[in-house]
Amino acid sequence: MKTKPVFVLNGPTLNLLGKREPHIYGRVTLKDIEKMVKARAKELSLGIDFRQSAREGELIEWILEARDKASGIIINAAAYSHTSIAILDALKAAELPVIEVHLSNIYKREAFRHHSHVSAAADGVIVGFGALGYVMAVDAMAALCASRSETQ
Ligand code: DQA
Repeated sequence: MKTKPVFVLNGPTLNLLGKREPHIYGRVTLKDIEKMVKARAKELSLGIDFRQSAREGELIEWILEARDKASGIIINAAAYSHTSIAILDALKAAELPVIEVHLSNIYKREAFRHHSHVSAAADGVIVGFGALGYVMAVDAMAALCASRSETQ
């Protein structure tokens, strides 16, 4: 049986990476991150389905699609991390390994970024490492999926 891909889901305004507040988010584009993620995943024999949306409902539909079609979810819900109980509920309902990523160190920034609803559904959280955080998440997801399949 072919292994299901890992969904890498990106929230609002991450499509503008490279141009958006480069002093915070760097010059790397989302396309660059997608390439880095896919290159690392290939080395680990993982498939990747990489998506971005500004719409909360679309992100939720993708999370619920992942329930059947993915082996895990890596998510940077961007600003929705701090506001969306609906995304939290969807992630819990997906019953999959979940890794939360933020490019910036949200704990060094404004107080309203210090709490993420997504974290309550995440197996692990990677913050502050820029684009590298996504690659770290792929490594961590490979380990999570391997330990899941050992116990199933
Ligand atoms: C972000 C941090 C969020 O607070 C912010 O709203 C984003 C990006 C990050 O990757 O650092 O859009 O998720």
